[in-house]
Amino acid sequence: MLETDHFLDIDDVTTDELQTILDRAAAIKSGADDARLPERTMGMLFEKPSTRTRISFETGMTQLGGHAVFLGPDDIQLGHGEPLSDTSRVLSRYVDVVMARLFSHDDLVEIADYADVPVVNGLTDDAHPCQTLADLLTIKEQFGGFDGVRAAWVGDGNNVGQSFVVGAAMAGLDLTVATPPDYGMSDECVEQAAELGHEPTIVDAPEEAVSDADVVYTDVWISMGQESERHEKLQAFEGYQVNEDLLSGTDAKVMHCLPAHRGEEISHDVLESDRALVWDQAENRLHAQKGLLVELLE
Ligand code: CP
Ligand code: NVA
Repeated sequence: MLETDHFLDIDDVTTDELQTILDRAAAIKSGADDARLPERTMGMLFEKPSTRTRISFETGMTQLGGHAVFLGPDDIQLGHGEPLSDTSRVLSRYVDVVMARLFSHDDLVEIADYADVPVVNGLTDDAHPCQTLADLLTIKEQFGGFDGVRAAWVGDGNNVGQSFVVGAAMAGLDLTVATPPDYGMSDECVEQAAELGHEPTIVDAPEEAVSDADVVYTDVWISMGQESERHEKLQAFEGYQVNEDLLSGTDAKVMHCLPAHRGEEISHDVLESDRALVWDQAENRLHAQKGLLVELLE
């Protein structure tokens, strides 16, 4: 059982709870833990498209003996003017947990404020904590733990990156971040990481970030909702592609939350190489979220 009512960002759980969720996820994945949430229903609100988040939550609820209801923008009255506050209170009368993928993080907070059931962040413009759970599970599997593991983030200081910065600090990873000027991580997430005793090293050059990294993480340069910024972002991110040139001389593994844009933030060759942990990461969304849900609802 977690102390928090909601999981809106990774630091809604304590460092100990994070380890508990990851351990639970690993046990569920290995078959050692037959966790069940019979007859529990999840309402899944989506303002943006999704492959992994939608399918892993829906499948996860089924595997736990529960059920998930997909609520896309055109499916419910929310998309036709019903306020978030009303939607949240009504959903709370039906379902046991709400998962939401929204543009505005403030909207997610508003849903949580009005909900009588736990609310889980399925990605906002600011954060993607369920992705961080899967990322940390993947790193733990790959390196046998977090101690002494050196990670690098190369690319946009976006939602996935910001949750990763805080999650990495909670796990005790040694993290270096290379982002172009004006596209860095928020001051808030860097300060949170510093308060946790693991402030990331911030550098400009991707080469510097990856030089002694065990694992290099990147994500798309143009996140959902930023399509109008495409031209200017492509220019700003020149030189930040994760490719074999950048990684030459290192044995670094590569992570990406997917979907990937081959030829932009990552090269086709790297994504298809033995360096890539991306398929394990995608699979681990399922296990990590099952671990989260049982700890949140059991
Ligand atoms: N990584 C991730 O959240 O993928 P989807 O957008 O497909 O859900
Ligand atoms: N940063 C990306 C992540 C997608 C899972 C986006 O927000 O579009």
